[in-house]
Amino acid sequence: MGKMIYFLPGNENLASLISKKSGIPLGSVNWRSFPDGETYLRLETDCGKQEVMLLATLPHPNDKILPLLFLTEAFRELGSRRITLVAPYLAYMRQDRRFHEGEGITSRYFAQLLSRYVDGLITVDPHLHRYHSLNEIYSIPNQVLHATPFIADWIRDQVKNPLLIGPDSESEQWVADVAGRARAPYVVLNKIRQGDRDVEVSIPQVEKWLDHTPVLVDDIISSGRTMIETIGHLKRLQLKAPECIGIHAVFSEADYQALLAAGAARVTTTNTIPHESNGIDISDLLVSLIERPPEIT
Ligand code: R5P
Repeated sequence: MGKMIYFLPGNENLASLISKKSGIPLGSVNWRSFPDGETYLRLETDCGKQEVMLLATLPHPNDKILPLLFLTEAFRELGSRRITLVAPYLAYMRQDRRFHEGEGITSRYFAQLLSRYVDGLITVDPHLHRYHSLNEIYSIPNQVLHATPFIADWIRDQVKNPLLIGPDSESEQWVADVAGRARAPYVVLNKIRQGDRDVEVSIPQVEKWLDHTPVLVDDIISSGRTMIETIGHLKRLQLKAPECIGIHAVFSEADYQALLAAGAARVTTTNTIPHESNGIDISDLLVSLIERPPEIT
């Protein structure tokens, strides 16, 4: 079965990079909104009976999900035999349990919804915290890729004498891996989240690292509060201004600016979500998998 890459609006750069590197042709879709806000879509390139690789990164997913589902319906009606969703950032992974009585476990609902529409899923560093694997909520074959080798290369190349810092216990899985690959020491802090934008981190005992450059590594930067709190503590300890690395640049412009203003030396992210802070290209990761049939688990 041949393959074609289609993409949702906003994924143009990564889609054309992947297409160039893999030689898999890009399909085109004409999208527009009717005056009442409903979505019009038309495949301008026939998908035929091919396997469709649908590239759709999913920050702020609510506006994207209906067009995405409609597009998968159109692919099937027009003959595609298999649809693999390539979501470099996979949304709705953080509500992974009922934290308060009556809450919906939206990670599971979202997974069940997508599993009904696509045949396979490829993603990069999903927020697996209380879930150990996507298979706990997704019923389709899936493959999780890791940006950590690319982050480690960037650190080796860009930062002198790094001390990697994970802002909370969840980040240890990324920080430990990056630190090992970059051959750098690391510490992991304790975080207490009081609310969406109210985060406390424990004072780290890092006085012995005063001659190092702190490098904060987290999977998601969203409100930026986790990193901002951490920067505050590092400043009080008179450590150098830290490099801040996030795999997924979920943040708004205002939150990005607030993070820079808080004292980050630089904020660098991967291109799983397009943003001006993207400094680490992970397209090779996706190419390697898209080229192979994703008979994946
Ligand atoms: C949390 O569990 C994640 O690993 C990140 O630390 C968190 O999503 C960052 O969010 P924010 O930037 O809103 O503090």
